[in-house]
Amino acid sequence: MNFNLKIKSAGDDLKFSAESALVKFFIDADNLEKLVEDFFTNLNFKLSAIQKKFFIEKKNDELVYYSSDGVPSAIFLKKVKVDKDFTADFFRNYFAGLINQLKGKNFKTVHVVVPSFSHFPGSFASDDYMIQTIVEGIRLGNYNFDKYKSDAKKITAVDFVLHYSDKKMVEKTIDGTSKLMDAVKFARDLVNEPAITLTPKEFAKRTKTELNRTGVDVKIFNKRELQKRKMNSILAVGGASEHEPLMMHLHYKPKIAKKKIALVGKGVTYDSGGLSIKPTNGMLEMKADMAGGALVVGVIKAAASLKLPIELIGVIPCVENMINGASFKPGDVIVSYSGKSIEVKDTDAEGRIILADALHFAVRQKPDEIIDFATLTGAIAVALGLIIAGLFSKNDELAQKLIDSGNKTFERLWRMPFSDDYKSMIKSEIADVSNLGPRWGGAITAGKFLEHFVDEKIPWAHLDIAGPAIKHEFNNYTKEFDTGFGVRLMMDYLMCV
Ligand code: BES
Ligand code: ZN
Ligand code: ZN
Repeated sequence: MNFNLKIKSAGDDLKFSAESALVKFFIDADNLEKLVEDFFTNLNFKLSAIQKKFFIEKKNDELVYYSSDGVPSAIFLKKVKVDKDFTADFFRNYFAGLINQLKGKNFKTVHVVVPSFSHFPGSFASDDYMIQTIVEGIRLGNYNFDKYKSDAKKITAVDFVLHYSDKKMVEKTIDGTSKLMDAVKFARDLVNEPAITLTPKEFAKRTKTELNRTGVDVKIFNKRELQKRKMNSILAVGGASEHEPLMMHLHYKPKIAKKKIALVGKGVTYDSGGLSIKPTNGMLEMKADMAGGALVVGVIKAAASLKLPIELIGVIPCVENMINGASFKPGDVIVSYSGKSIEVKDTDAEGRIILADALHFAVRQKPDEIIDFATLTGAIAVALGLIIAGLFSKNDELAQKLIDSGNKTFERLWRMPFSDDYKSMIKSEIADVSNLGPRWGGAITAGKFLEHFVDEKIPWAHLDIAGPAIKHEFNNYTKEFDTGFGVRLMMDYLMCV
């Protein structure tokens, strides 16, 4: 955490507290200069001619004004151009960036004059969702993973006060969004934690401690339990690590449930590639190869604390893909939990192997639908870049709903081809299926492999999140730390089903 934050709702009257800052947005239009002048006159502050000219100029859109005395002590002016380039991600990005600017400035309060929803026709799903993006931006920007920095900055307290006409609505939105963002933070912490600490056992322990608090049932199948159940895929991939494999089975069961949904997440706490070892560069990010699992934990935490009326089953196979004398090997055949056999052609395509057992377990719980999340292939990032995740599904309705939630939350999805033409590419001579397809279309054949382990009667979607789960420079709220991608997306989806 950068700041010990409180976010409050204050209605639209502006009273400034001492040592405070003010954030003021100006909608860019012909009357901009007059709006700025009137605003400063009302506050009894004086903007110099040079400052005013600077801010009005087309190419500039930000100005920080410091008052010599009086309150507020500083004003962050921001121009908003509501044109074809304006997106509903605007406030998320702005506030995430603002947090950095506040560091070291000792403001106790930041007053935000929230512009009226009516300025942004068609951009936000609703006025409370507009407020939600502000709260998300503040919380995402305030995220920090500095527990290993010996010179970590002391945390100071800052209150954000949102000024908007509908005080009650803002209060309610702050409350709900804070619960959601606590879950995003929990997922982010799991993903950012290095593998030396976040072993499968530690992943399970943190999950159990956290979720038990909200009444979610957490079962952990240890190695012996996996052996008893013949979950041989998880056992094979996790067999070469000092840290034994396990599988988490989470269950959130509200009193009234509209639907029962299984969420399956890849939980590889470290992916060295195994005997098909990765080069050093490829290993650098591989502590994040459990981001799908962290997403599932985050969603179930959020759903439980927001009391969502949907029964959720979480399945997270958890292994470290390492090398020793017990390693699984290219050429091996594994008889998976479902009974289907898998020929191992590359031990670095390990995610799909452990997901085979997890998906079959999910099928056995008889859910209404199954959605899985995995940092599955580098190929998806080649296809889509780092900000959009790949969506694979044969169910149009499920796919469209997920895409809609992606467009709303800016955790976007792109639907990939998934036709049976790709099926023959993962045939094996000696087993039911091979874990490796040809070089081209690698994200699609990975999805096709997973399809072998899902009952075709159950609506199913597979999300390959290898791009956006890992930190990237394209947003103020994704550039420093692994992102916790998907929790916001899936909560939006679950609130709409
Ligand atoms: N965990 C990786 C995929 C990955 C790559 C995630 C980069 C995030 C960033 C996965 O287990 C893997 O190694 N996939 C291989 C598959 C190949 C051997 C068919 C890949 O993408 O190269
Ligand atoms: Zn791998
Ligand atoms: Zn992997």
